[in-house]
Amino acid sequence: AMVEKQGFKHFMLKEIHEQPGVVRASLEAYFNPGESTESPINLGLPADLYTDLEQIQIVACGTSWHAALIGKYLLEQLAGISTQVHYASEYRYAPSPVTANTLIIGVTQSGETADTLAALTMEKERRQGKEAKYQARLLGITNRPESSLGHLVPHIISTLAGIEIGVAATKTFTAQLMAFYALALDLAARRQTVSKDILEKIINGLRQIPKEIEATLETQERLTEQLAHEFAETQDFIFVGRGINFPIALEGALKLKEISYIHAEGYPAGEMKHGPIALLDAKVPVVAIAIPGSVYEKVISNAQEAKARDSRLIGVTPVNDGEAAEIFNDLLPVSHVEELLSPILTVVPLQLLAYHIAARRGLDVDQPRNLAKSVTVE
Ligand code: G6P
Repeated sequence: AMVEKQGFKHFMLKEIHEQPGVVRASLEAYFNPGESTESPINLGLPADLYTDLEQIQIVACGTSWHAALIGKYLLEQLAGISTQVHYASEYRYAPSPVTANTLIIGVTQSGETADTLAALTMEKERRQGKEAKYQARLLGITNRPESSLGHLVPHIISTLAGIEIGVAATKTFTAQLMAFYALALDLAARRQTVSKDILEKIINGLRQIPKEIEATLETQERLTEQLAHEFAETQDFIFVGRGINFPIALEGALKLKEISYIHAEGYPAGEMKHGPIALLDAKVPVVAIAIPGSVYEKVISNAQEAKARDSRLIGVTPVNDGEAAEIFNDLLPVSHVEELLSPILTVVPLQLLAYHIAARRGLDVDQPRNLAKSVTVE
């Protein structure tokens, strides 16, 4: 079917606004409504894919690689499985040693990215002739189950973003995050690494996410549009976060680079002092993701160090008083949610910031120069 912009100026903006619906569709597809004996999650994967898992290796590119980093956080912190994330273009020439109990996951929205397919093909060949369990432990996460990836691997989790037209991924990223929440929670339930109560609490939290995105979308639209006006000529941006929001800092920087052509770097906030802090002055704004939880105070103190170098500070945070109100020059508010679930919310204002800056600069948001929606060559 023809996909239309439905009154939005660009597909990217429309796709950003579709994210609450994508989260709803994922909740409906991946989570069982009632009580279930083994796990409240149903990804349609065979039980033996989960048994005796020792480690997970994930290969991906671009925005899918960022989703994989959040996946790693969830798989390690919830399910207790050691997980590594690789750029597919690196892994294909230097694969990690694996065992029969290593699950490899390829994440690709399009299912056609050449490097990701090549890394998985290499892995499939490496497993040929080994025990059946070994050969079966290949899983794809894709928005296109009918793609080349779908033919390559024995197991697929379909993400439910619908067709994405904008070259810069937005709703497919959110859909990938939902797949990782479901997978990590499913593994955690089966391995009993989290209690039933906690599991239920996390799932209930996820169910609130669509309306929490909706609650802040309009405010974020207005605020990011205003900021875009001020930052249209800015040459460098730094995005910082920690823990589960570090990959969101990377994603915020990538969105800005891709569509506005502004140089941007995402950094784990605690690592700024080891180099990037030398870049800071009044001309370099810093966007800090500060979510109450395990690293909130740390991010605030890292932000303070940036402020001391005259950087303008933009806070992506649910906090609007105390230290946050004092140090941030601008706030991009998000709803209060558990830190573990916050990336689905914190990414949205960063997508909008990139969008409005690019639109303000009069750029071709949906078709940025030099980039392709799926890169089918090495
Ligand atoms: C291209 C796109 C990105 C995307 C990356 C990986 O570079 O422009 O938006 O994240 O490919 O694509 P995939 O289809 O493998 O997720």
